[in-house]
Amino acid sequence: MKQRRPLIAGNWKMNGSLAANQVLLTGLLDGVAQLATVACDVVVCVPFPYLAQAQASLQDSVIKWGAQDVSAQEVGAYTGEVAVSMLRDFGCGYAIVGHSERRSYHAEADALVAQKTLRVLEAGLTPIVCVGETLQERKAGLTEATVARQLNAVLAVLNTEQLAKIVLAYEPVWAIGTGITATPEMAQQVHAFLRTQLSGLNAQAAGQVAILYGGSMKPDNAAALLAMPDIDGGLIGGAALKAADFLGIVAAA
Ligand code: 13P
Repeated sequence: MKQRRPLIAGNWKMNGSLAANQVLLTGLLDGVAQLATVACDVVVCVPFPYLAQAQASLQDSVIKWGAQDVSAQEVGAYTGEVAVSMLRDFGCGYAIVGHSERRSYHAEADALVAQKTLRVLEAGLTPIVCVGETLQERKAGLTEATVARQLNAVLAVLNTEQLAKIVLAYEPVWAIGTGITATPEMAQQVHAFLRTQLSGLNAQAAGQVAILYGGSMKPDNAAALLAMPDIDGGLIGGAALKAADFLGIVAAA
């Protein structure tokens, strides 16, 4: 029995359509209904336009839904941005912040990710804060320095109470969408390091924070990753787009 309740979160990224989502959501609902117990929290993070669809489909189920990003601003003249209050309007429980695809394709800096984390917490939602090194950084021996820098920017703006409410996701960039997964030992090493960093702020809160692994997690490698003491769940990309695969990971948790 894990100390922390596992969390399996799907990140649909920029995939889907009303029709395709309905098939996927129905498949997920049918699948969880067939499980004797759902021993983990289950979340799907959908593109903004489909939040209403996710809410309508999932509101009476154990599956929760969230967004993949959020604005660091509260309201106003920020064309194209989506405020956390809007996510709340659609019943979102979660928002991913600082995904590596936002960091690399949209130049999101550590300080911006920290502000987004704060907005999400202030609105009463759970931020899924992503950190992770590139292959180049890993090869240069900079894995810990990179994730520490990304995490510490966020920790700098949080109090202890807020710290206990975040979810952290370790997503090595070289494992995202590549089919290459970090071995359970490699991932555990970084997860343990991240928890030590959290402990620097508050040991008790650090023990409560779920740290998810993300990067080519699939039904056939999920159990071994999730068996590690500091791997508390998964943030799933590709395998979240097929109900059977996602449910396979949920079952492993
Ligand atoms: P994949 O599972 O497709 O590697 O994506 C992981 C990810 O980026 C989840 O946020």
